[in-house]
Amino acid sequence: TEARPLVIAVDGPSGSGKSSVSKEVARRLGLEYLDTGAMYRAATWSVIESGVDLEDAVKVAEHVRNLDLTMATDPSAPGVWVAGHDVNEAIRETRISTVVSKVATNLDVRAELLKRQRELIAAGRDGVHQGCVAEGRDITTVVAPDADVRILLTASEEARLARRSKELHGNADAASVEATRDQIVRRDSDDSTVSNFEVAADGVLHLDSSALDFEQTVDAVLAAINRIVTGS
Ligand code: DC
Repeated sequence: TEARPLVIAVDGPSGSGKSSVSKEVARRLGLEYLDTGAMYRAATWSVIESGVDLEDAVKVAEHVRNLDLTMATDPSAPGVWVAGHDVNEAIRETRISTVVSKVATNLDVRAELLKRQRELIAAGRDGVHQGCVAEGRDITTVVAPDADVRILLTASEEARLARRSKELHGNADAASVEATRDQIVRRDSDDSTVSNFEVAADGVLHLDSSALDFEQTVDAVLAAINRIVTGS
C-alpha cells in the first residue's frame, strides 16, 4: 500500500486553542506540526532586530525574502531559529504581538512565507515525514486548500478572552480579562484584513470549542479527522 503523507489544516483566531490543540493532535497521530504564526512572528522579530523600518513595506518584504529562518516541526519540540538564534520565546513577547500584523498584512511577505510553508508541508511527499498538522489563519483557504482535513477552530469571544487572560496574567478575573480584551480584539480586527477566519470556507469543518476543555477539543478534532479520513 502507498503511504501518502496526511495534511491537516487548522485555522482559527487567537485564543481559539488552535496552537496547543494542533500540537497535541500532531503528537498523537505521529505527524509534524507547523506553527505558521511563529513564522510571521519570527519575520517581525528579525525586521525589528535588524533596524528595518516596520512602516517601509518594500524594505520589510526584501528583508523577509532573505530571511534565514529554520522551523523545527517535531510537535514534542517545536522551535524557531533566525540565523541560528533561538527566537522561540522572544517571538511571543508583547512587543512582537502588538506589531506582527503590520508584517503579516504585507502581501509580499505573505507570498514569501506561503512558499516556505508549502515546502515545509510538502516535505512529506519526498518521504521526509508522514504528514503535517499546519495551523494559522489561511491554511484551509490559501496555504493548503487541498489538505486531507480542513478545520476552522473557533471559540466565543468570552471563552477566548478567559483563556488568553489565564495565559498572560495567570487568572481570568475581571481586571485581567479587561487588560487582555484590548490586545485580542484589536489584533483580530488588524488580522481580519488578511482573511476572514471567523467563517469556515466551503468544505471546511467548523468546530466551536467554547464549551469544551483542552482534552475534549483534542478528542473532537481527532474524531473529525478519523471520520473524514476513513470516509465514515
Ligand atoms: O497565531 P499567532 O498569534 O502566532 O499569529 C501571529 C500573527 O500572524 C497574527 O497577526 C496573525 C498572523 N498570521 C497570519 O496572518 N497568517 C497565518 N497563517 C498565521 C498567522
